[in-house]
Amino acid sequence: LRSSFALRAQKQQGRSSHYHLQPQASFKVAILGAAGGIGQPLALLIKMSPLVSTLHLYDIANVKGVAADLSHCNTPSQVVDFTGTSELASSLKGVDVVVIPAGVPRKPGMTRDDLFNINANIVKSLVEAVADNCPEAFIHMISNPVNSTVPIAAEVLKQKGVYDPKKLFGVTTLDVVRANTFVAQKKNLKLIDVDVPVVGGHAGITILPLLSKTRPSVSFTDEEIQELTVRIQNAGTEVVEAKAGAGSATLSMAYAAARFVESSLRALDGDGDVYECSYVQSDLTDLPFFASRVKLSNKGVEALISSDLQGLTEYEQKALDALKPELKASIEKGVTFVQKQA
Ligand code: NAD
Ligand code: LMR
Repeated sequence: LRSSFALRAQKQQGRSSHYHLQPQASFKVAILGAAGGIGQPLALLIKMSPLVSTLHLYDIANVKGVAADLSHCNTPSQVVDFTGTSELASSLKGVDVVVIPAGVPRKPGMTRDDLFNINANIVKSLVEAVADNCPEAFIHMISNPVNSTVPIAAEVLKQKGVYDPKKLFGVTTLDVVRANTFVAQKKNLKLIDVDVPVVGGHAGITILPLLSKTRPSVSFTDEEIQELTVRIQNAGTEVVEAKAGAGSATLSMAYAAARFVESSLRALDGDGDVYECSYVQSDLTDLPFFASRVKLSNKGVEALISSDLQGLTEYEQKALDALKPELKASIEKGVTFVQKQA
């Protein structure tokens, strides 16, 4: 796993590694929604991490069998199952990273925002439990609509008096994974070398791949930029339509989420060279939450990387201006949802 995620991320940063610590299984990770389409393959990938000592699997149902199955893999981490709200608090005690893929996925014809009514309540109650039981943990929010569920989580944590903006992350890694894949295919590049920053948010036009900042430097025609940008923005819908009612991306999402977990654990373990794109509280634009590359440390977000937003092409600048009203409305919707219930 270290070679497939960590080294790839390092290579994509174009830096040599200063991280020569022997990986040791010492971190506790919890997955909330662990019996679901994302939760199961994600649990498998995290079970393979040499940095994890304990893996807590929580769901409202069906988690016992998943945990029994996974526990037979001869990798270091211990797997523990937790079912239902009465076991939620125990699933969170002493946890370093909480990953939240709990909630319903889209069906064809739906937007991510159509999931708001169900998933907002699920996320709110889960984050309340995180605030009560492991307020210092990194929180990785996968449940959609991410553009709103992250502001919901922030408001809940604020109400509980434990909000640390450096430790709350909307997982947008899948957008980067997709952008890297599609660009490498289109330009015939070696996949491992390609790194495209994706900024904004995680829905439709709010997903903005900055193709001009692709590393290694690549030139694109205007048609290629248009085609790639639209494909990256619609990639989630591409999967939803192909699955034809059976849900949305689960396997590529688990891969992307596992990469983000592994990066977080390396940062917690003292690696000073960890960068990922994520949707976080931000002052890079006039929006309170914005996805960009961030530098991670053991305290969470150590720095927001502003350089990607400098020297944008006219196409990217227009797309950035165009995404702001939608992203702003999604953020406000999340904040209002929590404040109305206070
Ligand atoms: P799924 O329906 O297969 O699994 C969801 C799981 O959540 C189920 O096991 C369900 O029992 C569980 N769950 C429901 N309510 C819960 C609660 N209150 N507490 C704990 N668990 C609960 O769905 P999935 O395909 O795994 O997708 C999950 C979410 O992830 C969806 O909202 C989807 O839109 C989102 N998603 C996000 C990204 C991203 O890039 N951020 C990518 C793919 C999917
Ligand atoms: C994705 O990008 O695949 C996810 O956000 C799921 C979806 O609804 O598209």
